[in-house]
Amino acid sequence: MWGSDKRLEMKRIAVLISGNGSNLQAIIDAIAKGSLTDKAHIVQVISNKKDAYGLIRAQQVAIPTTVVTLKTFTEAGKSREDYDAYLAEFLIVNVQPDIVVLAGFMHVLSSAFLDRLKRIAIINLHPALPGEFDGTHAIERAYQAYQEGKITETGVMIHRVVAEVDRGEVIIVEKVPIMKEDGLEDLKHRIQLVEHRLIVEGILYVLYNKP
Ligand code: GRF
Repeated sequence: MWGSDKRLEMKRIAVLISGNGSNLQAIIDAIAKGSLTDKAHIVQVISNKKDAYGLIRAQQVAIPTTVVTLKTFTEAGKSREDYDAYLAEFLIVNVQPDIVVLAGFMHVLSSAFLDRLKRIAIINLHPALPGEFDGTHAIERAYQAYQEGKITETGVMIHRVVAEVDRGEVIIVEKVPIMKEDGLEDLKHRIQLVEHRLIVEGILYVLYNKP
């Protein structure tokens, strides 16, 4: 079958990022040599930050990238809802993804985004166990709680995105132990290795088991 026809069958992934993009890289690597090959491809990477290194990672493998910053909207007197609605429309009109993956995306998406994409799976990676450390700096907060003897482990989850931050249906969750000799960076490293595996598993699960 001609390459282009095969690509027509492949599932279309849109990835939203804000920073380093190590989770985006994990998806790129999975497509390049592993479990997603011939099944899905990344058709667009969108960043809300123009200096996100993840944009470079995408451009290195010729994935189309777009930067949409909230600042451009607020400076034009527009609201967060306007931003979210624009982002949703951009995806619907220009990308037509089968799945939207929030991979280190640090902007909270409102119903102005979610309501427009009701028929598309939207998943988020969050470096904590369900119901614990919602929001930003989850790893740091878990590390602090461990130091205070409040927890003995933390985790990583992939969940569907709903308006309430980090509270959608959990798709995959994996516990991550915290060792007494851990520094914060040790825990971050251990968590990121789990993130990079779960983000790919989460995409496969949603695309092929529970769209
Ligand atoms: C990760 O811990 C992710 O869960 C969080 O942002 C961190 C950086 O992700 N939301 P990445 O390297 O930009 O993928």
